[in-house]
Amino acid sequence: MRVLGIESSCDETGVALFDGTTRGWVHALHSQIDLHQAYGGVVPELASRDHVRHLLPLIGQVLDRAGCGREQIDAIAVTAGPGLAGALLVGCGVAAALGYALRRPVVAVHHLEGHLLSPLLADPAPTFPFICLLVSGGHTQLLHARAPGQYALLGETLDDAAGEAFDKTAQMLGLGYPGGPEVSRLAQFGIPGALRLPRPMLESATLDMSFSGLKTAVLTAVRRAGNLCEQVRADIAREFVDAVVEVLTAKALQALGQTALSQLVVAGGVGANAQLRAALDQAIASRGGRLYYPPPDLCTDNGAMIAYAGFVRLSQMGQDPQAARGAPIRVRPRWDLCNLTAG
Ligand code: KG4
Ligand code: ZN
Repeated sequence: MRVLGIESSCDETGVALFDGTTRGWVHALHSQIDLHQAYGGVVPELASRDHVRHLLPLIGQVLDRAGCGREQIDAIAVTAGPGLAGALLVGCGVAAALGYALRRPVVAVHHLEGHLLSPLLADPAPTFPFICLLVSGGHTQLLHARAPGQYALLGETLDDAAGEAFDKTAQMLGLGYPGGPEVSRLAQFGIPGALRLPRPMLESATLDMSFSGLKTAVLTAVRRAGNLCEQVRADIAREFVDAVVEVLTAKALQALGQTALSQLVVAGGVGANAQLRAALDQAIASRGGRLYYPPPDLCTDNGAMIAYAGFVRLSQMGQDPQAARGAPIRVRPRWDLCNLTAG
């Protein structure tokens, strides 16, 4: 079954063709980083217009590279939420039109389910059940993934997402957007413990987290430092990364302990962070567990994870893509991953 995946929920236009038989995929991505850089964050209207410009050419490019004619597509999977309403509408509109023209089913995919399932495309891949630490620009959640489509929320951030804290910290340190990779790079030159930032909710018994206080503490440190020389910026970045990594690692271990599971999947943009991966790798290995993450090019937003999530959903429907036909695609800017069929 060949599934065309379309992602346009935020600032990346992603398209992929997933070949269910060989588990291979061809994907293409257009990043809007340059477009939003000057504003220090995503401007929704600019994002939508840019998706309009790039989506159809990207689809053509992927089909050409895969040597696949449009009529050879068996189904279309598209991110229907959560995300920016206007941006989602672009992808969903194109998917619905293609589905109508080709008479193929269109599957609505939850963006975070795409991230959560993406490690299944890697080798080695996890098997259900597992714990997923989902850390993206908008979400920070710990989920118990029982089976495809069956996810229970164990804990989440009560305020800012970890990725958002990375992006804001980058802004305060005068770094570019998106902030995660830049803060992470600068942190390598920082002296560990040169200053102290809080580890919010580290000691709390729940699996909930909080990153807004940490962000404020960075602002205070930046103001206190006054003239930010290169070393001070690196020290702040280092302490910030250490704080985030310590909290995420502790909470992930706590989730494994509570559920008596041994497999941890880390997905979402922040999951690409080298310091986080190293800390999780070490912590999980020391308790006999195993850490899984997506293939390197599928950590941040992309069409392949959406195509794969659509493929998984269609497979659950009994290998019959036609079974998915009929349900109109509805954009869901807010959508609960633990209650996929509701609303
Ligand atoms: O999953 P993603 O690509 O998009 C959303 O669904 O939000 O995540 C984007 C977030 C941004 O906040 C970005 O700064 C962060 O992931 N990020 C990183 C790294 N790469 C991307 N954060 C820390 N370290 C990285 N290497
Ligand atoms: Zn994402």
